[in-house]
Amino acid sequence: MNVIELPEWKALALRRRALDEIRISALFDDDPQRTSRFTFEAASLVADLSRHRLDGGTLRALIALARAARLETRRDELLAGAIVNGTEGRPAWHTALRTAPSDTAAALALATQRDRFLDFAEQLRSGQLTGSAGLPLDTVVCIGIGGSDLGPRLVTEALGPCSGPRVHFASNLDPADLDGALGHCDPRSTLLICISKSFSTLETLENLRAGRRWFEQRAPGLNLAPHLAAVTSQPERAAPFGFEPQRVFTFPEWVGGRYSLWSACGIGIATAHGRAAFLKLLDGAAQMDAHFAGAPLESNLPVLLGLLGVWYVNFWGAQSRAVVPYAQRLRHLPAYLQQLEMESLGKSVDRDGAPLAIDTAPAVWGEVGSNAQHSVFQWLHQGTLPIPLEILLIEASDRGGEPRLALLNQFARAQADALAWGDGVLGGPPRPAYAATPGNRPSTLLRLPQLDARSIGALLALYEHRTFVQSVIWNINAFDQWGVEIGKQLMARRTRGPDA
Ligand code: F6P
Repeated sequence: MNVIELPEWKALALRRRALDEIRISALFDDDPQRTSRFTFEAASLVADLSRHRLDGGTLRALIALARAARLETRRDELLAGAIVNGTEGRPAWHTALRTAPSDTAAALALATQRDRFLDFAEQLRSGQLTGSAGLPLDTVVCIGIGGSDLGPRLVTEALGPCSGPRVHFASNLDPADLDGALGHCDPRSTLLICISKSFSTLETLENLRAGRRWFEQRAPGLNLAPHLAAVTSQPERAAPFGFEPQRVFTFPEWVGGRYSLWSACGIGIATAHGRAAFLKLLDGAAQMDAHFAGAPLESNLPVLLGLLGVWYVNFWGAQSRAVVPYAQRLRHLPAYLQQLEMESLGKSVDRDGAPLAIDTAPAVWGEVGSNAQHSVFQWLHQGTLPIPLEILLIEASDRGGEPRLALLNQFARAQADALAWGDGVLGGPPRPAYAATPGNRPSTLLRLPQLDARSIGALLALYEHRTFVQSVIWNINAFDQWGVEIGKQLMARRTRGPDA
């Protein structure tokens, strides 16, 4: 499929030209129902898309493109566990971790894997698990990188203070990261969990070795076995590191790293917040999976957000998209999305290996609100490169009694309006050019009812499916990442000689 040859693609190019002269504010003037017409709900999340360069006809044209790209068929293949990752010859069936597959044997195997790490997390939380000095293991340090870190770290912090053992994360090869985490720890009551799908990632294995040295230096003679655990898809590779088999938690090969927080890679989340919270996280994601699977494309939120991504990259030339969560506990969201979207969609050949004639993944970046207002919003309001922005807010903050949280949400809404309408919305005499803010800048206002496990599960599943939708339109494989290998290979040659 060469998408630019599709009549639906050509129709969108015409719509782009037609919308060029129409300001977002004019779209509101022409349609008093615009806000309700362009607001969509899925799994308790509400997305207001009315401040986009989008009219009804363009939305229908985008949906027509999705149908021409056979999105529904491709979606159903993904959700059924078909082989959608062509270059690695496997499914990308992370949804099966949230909704048990109909195949009972597969469902049983997944449930067994899940219950193993959730039971272990509950034993840690109850103080049942002790170290070799007899002290409860009340501190956990998770070492992992990329998908084995970003999602678990995001969700663990997003759910608030740990209600069980303290859980720290370390990912970087720079010792300052692990030292910083271990700095809070007593070796006699610390558990180190090594999380690596491949169990071959240099940074994580070096941090595992450094962690073992820390134990040996701080508590010479301490039997390390009760202080170590591992999560991987390659248990045979973990074995030589001396983990006790009952402390090696596994997940299937067909769960991609950046889609793995729902698996045993989420053990830090379950340890910090408990089995019930982890199951609610899965349930929230399962609700979004059901919406993605069943909602008509016209009101299917992952589909609409995915198509908006294509609209701005391919028809408006946006080279990046920004995400500003107005919630301190979501501060790790931009980093998580960078891996999810840029590692999934940063591709320049199609699924058959043919070079693409279109742009694909934009750079994804962001900062937490309201901090971003004092750094990047100058660029967003007056810069020369308008890009789509995603603003997230937590609705419960409006009525929680904490005035700062209510103000935070007012800032989020004000910024969305300011970007769309510009300073014209303020009225009064025209401003000098240097102070003028032109507006007409698109944004999504994404509202979570509250910052809890279900909403976060739904949110991250929304982003996963939105990413997949874009990969279908661009006809690329969202589930491999061959581009990361060259850096690792050259590194190996530098350290282990040309034959490495
Ligand atoms: O190098 C990129 C990558 O392979 C990511 O896809 C992955 O999430 C990360 O490294 C960590 O990999 P692992 O979990 O196998 O250690």
